[in-house]
Amino acid sequence: MSIKQNSRRDFFKKASLSGLAVVVSSAFTFGSKSKSPTIPAENLGIAKLGDFKLTPQSKQNPLPYAYGDLEPYIDARTMEIHYSKHHAAYTKNMNESSSSTDYAAKPLFEVFAEMGKYPVFLKNNAGGFYNHLLFWTILSHGTGQAPEGRLATAINDTFGGIEKFKELFGTAGKKQFGSGWAWLSVDAKGKLVVSSTANQDNPLMSTTEIKGVPILALDVWEHAYYLQYQNRRPDYVDSFWKVVNWKEVSRRYEEALAAK
Ligand SMILES: [Fe+2]
Repeated sequence: MSIKQNSRRDFFKKASLSGLAVVVSSAFTFGSKSKSPTIPAENLGIAKLGDFKLTPQSKQNPLPYAYGDLEPYIDARTMEIHYSKHHAAYTKNMNESSSSTDYAAKPLFEVFAEMGKYPVFLKNNAGGFYNHLLFWTILSHGTGQAPEGRLATAINDTFGGIEKFKELFGTAGKKQFGSGWAWLSVDAKGKLVVSSTANQDNPLMSTTEIKGVPILALDVWEHAYYLQYQNRRPDYVDSFWKVVNWKEVSRRYEEALAAK
């Protein structure tokens, strides 16, 4: 492997790991034998694939907001089912399918970086686990309606302004055929890039065409909006901007750059 390849891989690894620190400490437990209720950020990079699990929803809502806090833009019932059923299923499937395998001992991001080597079932479920982990953190009601600081500057420089960026990102989500995601990522050169992926693929996977460290994600699977919006995905995408947690997106952007 060349120095350039090593450097690039290291960038993705560092940036990916640092970007998960907040959500992991607030929402997820790590390791059935661990006495700690959270995953220390520095441990995520060495965490085994099969050691991630969701906090039981029945005991306490582990999301950093109540299910109904995103209303009227995303309804409480959708949030509840999305988290406690869909995300829980991806996590369970990821754990069960990887147990007793060689790759169960591999860090999640190393698996993503070698995704083509692994079964599609693992790709779908490990992707579903991580993508939702990211998605929950970049949602919040009343945390600010626009990016600030260096992220705002980068969006202006790259896309020609926040409205043009929203149009580009929104179109990526609206036109993604079938189930998938829209992304804003930081690529290996530190540049912002908008993309979309099918299914539960993400820009960290070696199998994905447009790669980067994702800092903003939009779930456009029907399970994310159908109860409230039915077939009106464009309306859901437009409402998404009302609940973006730009502070978290900015934090992820800064960490992605710092890890470069
Ligand atoms: Fe989803």
